[in-house]
Amino acid sequence: MNTYLEIEDLFLSASAAEYLGEDITLVEHMIQCAELAQRDNAPSWLVVAALLHDIGHILSVDAAHAQDSGVDRHHDLVGADWIAQRFPENIVQVVKLHVEAKKYLVANDKSYFDKLSEASKVTLKIQGGEFTSAQSQEFLATPFSAEAIRLRIWDDCGKKRGGTELTLADFKDAIEENALA
Ligand SMILES: [Fe+2]
Repeated sequence: MNTYLEIEDLFLSASAAEYLGEDITLVEHMIQCAELAQRDNAPSWLVVAALLHDIGHILSVDAAHAQDSGVDRHHDLVGADWIAQRFPENIVQVVKLHVEAKKYLVANDKSYFDKLSEASKVTLKIQGGEFTSAQSQEFLATPFSAEAIRLRIWDDCGKKRGGTELTLADFKDAIEENALA
């Protein structure tokens, strides 16, 4: 199956799925993030990363239950593994780093924590909390950390009910342009 159709199937399977503790569905959230990336003139590969950054939540069917029980299912890594079979390294890395970018921002931007949604404050704890200064330095030295920080900002903003009128089909060209096969 081609990559676009695979993504379409996954998005359809999750169309009613809540975005853990947020006011919108997971699919709406990911489309909203991709739209924010586009509006911010991000390159198409980064728009695709924004569109797919939480796909690990769709792949982890028990993600919501896991969060309720305080377990981190590492949706960042689950998603990155899936993406690695279908897209180049830049997209994989940014998705892999989007949770670390939150830990970096909380540690280094004092106003950032207050801007997080309540659900995201809860998951921060489950995900291990903010970075130490050594972890922050290590993160900044990691390839694509700057783009992961950009994605993180879209991620935090893309949680508004009815915040986008776009659909997955609006990103078909970007997906096909960047897919490996
Ligand atoms: Fe997200």
